Amino acid sequence: MDIIPTTIVIFGASGDLTSRKLIPALYNNFKKWRLPENVRVVGFARRPYTDETFRSNLRDGVAKFSPDSFDATVWEKFAGRLHYFQGNLDVVEDFPKLESFLQVLEGDPSNRLYYLATAPEHYAIVVNCLDKACMAKPETGPQVRRRIIIEKPFGRDLASAQELNRAVHAVFDESQVYRIDHYLGKETAQNILFFRFANTIFEPVWNRRYVNNVQVTVSETVDVAHRAGYYDTAGVMRDMFQNHLLQLLALVAMEAPSSFSSDAVRNEKAKVFESIRPVALSDTVRGQYAGYQGTDCVATGSQTPTFAVVKLNIDNWRWQGVPFYLRSGKALMRKTSEIIIEFERPPHLMFNLPEGSDITPNILSLCIQPDEGIHLRFEAKVPDSEQEMRSVDMDFHYGSSFTGTLPEAYERLLLEALDGDASLFTRSDGIEASWRMIDPILQGWEAHNDPPLHIYPVGSWGPDEANQLLMRDGRRWRSGCDIVTDGPADGN
Ligand code: BG6
Repeated sequence: MDIIPTTIVIFGASGDLTSRKLIPALYNNFKKWRLPENVRVVGFARRPYTDETFRSNLRDGVAKFSPDSFDATVWEKFAGRLHYFQGNLDVVEDFPKLESFLQVLEGDPSNRLYYLATAPEHYAIVVNCLDKACMAKPETGPQVRRRIIIEKPFGRDLASAQELNRAVHAVFDESQVYRIDHYLGKETAQNILFFRFANTIFEPVWNRRYVNNVQVTVSETVDVAHRAGYYDTAGVMRDMFQNHLLQLLALVAMEAPSSFSSDAVRNEKAKVFESIRPVALSDTVRGQYAGYQGTDCVATGSQTPTFAVVKLNIDNWRWQGVPFYLRSGKALMRKTSEIIIEFERPPHLMFNLPEGSDITPNILSLCIQPDEGIHLRFEAKVPDSEQEMRSVDMDFHYGSSFTGTLPEAYERLLLEALDGDASLFTRSDGIEASWRMIDPILQGWEAHNDPPLHIYPVGSWGPDEANQLLMRDGRRWRSGCDIVTDGPADGN
C-alpha cells in the first residue's frame, strides 16, 4: 500500500458515469478490502450538492447498479470517504478554489488521481485549468504523484486525437496519463494474454499456418435510446471500433511481450495497429437499424451507421493472408462479445462423408460476455455409427470453474490506475494509430457513399451484406459462445 494518501478527484461527478460505474466500482473495491485506507474521493460538479446530498445520490446509484453487493452498513463506512466541491469546469478561478479545498481536506501532501468523467469537449479545458492552478505537478517533491484518467471517446478523428494528446502532454507526462477503454478491464479480455502466453499448447497454432480467419463480434440488443444526441455524431465506428474492437483485435494478434510491463505490452499492441493494411471500402459494410431516424435527437436524414463490418489484413509474418472480420452493431438479435478463431480444415479427409456435406473446422471461441468462458469445437465420431461425425464442444465457463461473480471492468481499472500500472490503458501512439486506421473508412463512406448505408430490421444480425461479405470469401459468421449443448454450429 502507498503510504502517501491519494485523493481521487472526479470531474463531472454529478453525471451518469460516476453513479453507474465509478462509485459502484470504488465501493466494491472498498468492500473487498482492496481500496487502500488512505484513499478519498472528491466530486467536482456544478450542482449545488452538500457532502450529504452527494453521498445520498451515490448511495442510490450503488443500490441500483450494484444491488447484489450493496450493504447499508458497509456503505456508511465507505461514504465517509466521499466529499463534494461545487465548481464549474469552464471557470478557471474555480480550480485554485478546488486546490485550497483539497489542501485543507488532505492536510498532508497527497497523491492525486484526476478523473475526467466529463463530456469530451471539456477534457482539454480541464487539463488546462489544472495546469493554471498548478495542480498537475506536485510541489512537494517527486514522491507525490499526479495522475489523470481520461474517458473515451479520445478524439473523434486523428486530427482531434492528436490535438488532445498535445494539450494533455503540454501539462502531463505520458507516464501520468491513463486513457480508459473499459473493455481492457473486463476479466475475459485480460484473460486473452494469459490464455495465449501462460499455456504452451495454443501459441504454436496461433498463426497463418493453422488459422483460417478471425472474427470479432460485439453485438448489442439495445438501441441508442437516450444517448442518441451523442451517438448520432459518433456512430458505431467511433463508438465501438476505434476502441473496443481494435483493442480486442490487438490482444489476439499481438506478439508475446517480453514482460508484463505496461510499455512492453503496449509496444506490441502498437506494432499490430501499425501493421494493419489500409482498408478497402469494398471490405466494409455499414448499416442503420430501421426506425433510428425517428429517434429524438437524431438529425433528419442521418447517415450515421449503427452497424458495421470491417475486414482487416495484418501485414506481418504471423498473420499474412489471414483475414480479421470485425462486426458490431446496436438493436441486433443478441448481446454478445466474442472472438472466433477458425482453424484450417484438415489437408486430407480419409473419412467418407455423406455427399454434399463438409467438415466443420475447429473453432476456438473466446467468450468475452455474457456467458464468459472459452469453448473449443472439434469433430467427434458419432457413437454406434460407421463414419459419421459431429461437432462437439469442450467448454470452460467462469461461472462453474470459479466462485463469485466477475468484477466490473472499472474495479480493476481504478485499482491499476491507483497503483500506477498503465498496462490496461491506451497509450497516445496506440490511440493515434487506431484513428489512422478508422479515419479513411469514415472519410470514404462520407465522400463516396460507398458502400451505401443499408437499413436492417431491429432484432436481426444486421444487413444481409454483412453475410455476403464473408460468403464472397467462401466463409460465414461463426458463433461458438452461446451454445449450451452441442447444437448447430452457427448462430446466424
Ligand atoms: C461503450 C459504448 O463504450 O460501450 C456504448 O459507448 C456501448 O455504446 C458500450 O453500449 C458497450 O459496453 P459493454 O460493456 O456493455 O459491452
